[in-house]
Amino acid sequence: MRVALYQYAPRFGEVARNLDQVEAALLGAGADADLWILPELFSTGYNFADRDEARSLAEEVEGETWDRVRKWAQRLDCAIAYGFAERDRDVLYNSGAIVDRSGTRLHYRKLHLFDRERLFFEAGNRKLEVIEIAGARCGMMICFDWRFPETARSLGFLGADLIVHPSNLVLPWCPDAMITRALENNVYVATVDRWGIEDRAGQKLRFIGRSQVISPAGARLAALGEAEDGWIVVDIDPAVARQKQVNSNNHLYRDRRPDFYVDGPVDG
Ligand code: ACM
Repeated sequence: MRVALYQYAPRFGEVARNLDQVEAALLGAGADADLWILPELFSTGYNFADRDEARSLAEEVEGETWDRVRKWAQRLDCAIAYGFAERDRDVLYNSGAIVDRSGTRLHYRKLHLFDRERLFFEAGNRKLEVIEIAGARCGMMICFDWRFPETARSLGFLGADLIVHPSNLVLPWCPDAMITRALENNVYVATVDRWGIEDRAGQKLRFIGRSQVISPAGARLAALGEAEDGWIVVDIDPAVARQKQVNSNNHLYRDRRPDFYVDGPVDG
């Protein structure tokens, strides 16, 4: 299964321009990918001034952005994963979808909202899910979900070979932390970030780029820089991710000791 990642610097609120840039990149790349992955909130930008602004840029799951992405998926005969601002009646979510020529294959709402996202979005309320693309089982989490290892663990338990991770990273630790998430679960992880600065409503955010694909053995198979547009293409071998036997005596999941683990802080 071939996965391709596209990193760029969307301009806040310039949805048409951002979509045009991504379209030109994907259609021009010649990547022959089974799955393209785009960043979190890839067409709108991230740093909303307030909820009204987020609402004005949010769309229903199968809205205009979805329509455009689906056309790319049809042209390229592939699946495309991306993050978007979702409006469901009056409620907003920081969401992701995987779309192919048949339509929406997966719909996820970010479970762990970061910082000011709480002012605009509700925390996700959909179960984590894994779908098959070109023989590889793929599950999605979004950006700050990385800080909660239960998210990647749950996707591992659900049988994911590849964790698809659209992001808008502002903290520097994620690229290294994802090596651990990959090792903990013996899965591939593709973190797809954006770069650039958004200085809006008194909040200046710098996004760290460094999109990457990590192997189940924790190797950084490919990565982009801190401030560059570009794509990377990596071949994924699902059989490698399904080998949870660490050595002849240890199995990553069967050796767990859940009877001795605690489920949360003991003193509240
Ligand atoms: C983040 O979750 N976008 C930092």
